[in-house]
Amino acid sequence: MDYLVKDGVLVTAEGQRRGDILVSGGKIAALGTGLDREGVQVLDASGCLVFPGFIDVHTHLDMECAAGVTADDFPSGTRAALAGGTTCILDFATQDKGGTLEQALEAWRKKAEDKSACDYGFHMAITDWTEDIPQQMEAMCRQGVTSFKVYLAYDNLRLTPEQVGKVLSAAARLGALVCAHCEDGDAVNQGVARQKALGHMGPEAHPLSRPNWVEGSAVTQFLDLAKQAGAEAYVVHLSTREGLEAIRQARQGGQTVWAETCPQYLTLTDQVYALPGFEGAKFVCSPPIRSQADLEALRQAAQAGEIQTVATDHCSFRFHGQKDLGKEDFSLIPNGLPGIQHRPLVMYALSQGDCPLTPSQLCALLSEAPAKIYGLYPRKGSLEVGADGDLVIWDPNAPVTIRAKDQLQATDYTPFEGWACPGSPRTVLLRGQIRVQDGQVLEGFPGQFIPRSTR
Ligand code: URP
Ligand code: ZN
Ligand code: ZN
Repeated sequence: MDYLVKDGVLVTAEGQRRGDILVSGGKIAALGTGLDREGVQVLDASGCLVFPGFIDVHTHLDMECAAGVTADDFPSGTRAALAGGTTCILDFATQDKGGTLEQALEAWRKKAEDKSACDYGFHMAITDWTEDIPQQMEAMCRQGVTSFKVYLAYDNLRLTPEQVGKVLSAAARLGALVCAHCEDGDAVNQGVARQKALGHMGPEAHPLSRPNWVEGSAVTQFLDLAKQAGAEAYVVHLSTREGLEAIRQARQGGQTVWAETCPQYLTLTDQVYALPGFEGAKFVCSPPIRSQADLEALRQAAQAGEIQTVATDHCSFRFHGQKDLGKEDFSLIPNGLPGIQHRPLVMYALSQGDCPLTPSQLCALLSEAPAKIYGLYPRKGSLEVGADGDLVIWDPNAPVTIRAKDQLQATDYTPFEGWACPGSPRTVLLRGQIRVQDGQVLEGFPGQFIPRSTR
């Protein structure tokens, strides 16, 4: 079935204009005004914004960790993504210690194939350096996995600075991109030990164990290594003024640095860790939720274009049965928050309230910049003839209140419980086919692996 989306406000990062979009054979076939075609189904978008499908470039689905496996796998996570208007995700495939990148890619393909409601690609997290990693990275790039992640924290995942430098050098040669979890792992370990020695065992100790400078110094270290390697760099889940300042310094020095933050760092403050009882565990993620001053700095940076992408870092654990593994010891609370479903709702609400953003800025943060940075553009991320027919018809006058009881995410809570969002997605098309209608996700898993290009 081909579709003619009529009379919407078409949004790109460059601007917005009233118009129509013809979607044929899964692709955007024409853009214009007064378009008319025989034999196509008309979707009335009057009064609505029409965005290119949103892209979430930071998810952890079906990921094993000490607490077991994340609550969301590809079926539940990608259905939740689609419900919010996200038509493509980039998930973190992760090398096992002693394993190869090829084995990790194979494992993640199996998790996702025929089980994804939206399109997907993978970053590859390198956790075990061997001298042939550069050749393995090249093999990944040939298969459309053109970005790599390094962790500066988590003892089971992190590389040494020297190894991070080698990954960056290999990436620079290959035209690949390295993204980094920037926390100083030694400082985190010491901070956790210090809190425990003080007898602070509850979730309120989590942010105290990793203060702002732990991120700031790690961002500086990562960007110094990128400079030495002559590599572009991408900082994931930026949460602090210190980290932002380190990025500014590197840019002033001529480096290309991409910055990502997440809805939780733009909306919540560390007051969440003062909630009664064990409630604060719902918000235990790394880096932790920060102060009001950090939140405001990040909002300004997003408005000013200093932050390019807003992704979720969706890493979901149930409160009952998973987060409560750390009831007696905060360091055993699995780290991560759910968010894959609600990112566009929350960001749209913010854009209309405390963090004014134009629809074009939203489009840049949620779709176009992620696509361009990660080699998905021009297939995804914009409204252009020839692009995939991934469209979100967004009704700015269809309010939704976020409730865990209504969500498709497989968790028993949401960090955004009770958020009143003034607009919501009405219809979502994935490669030219309706996948969400009147807010309901249709059955099926038509999501495809999307190979990405190098730089
Ligand atoms: O707490 C978090 N963010 N967990 C997910 C893994 C990561 O650090 O990105
Ligand atoms: Zn991380
Ligand atoms: Zn993450």
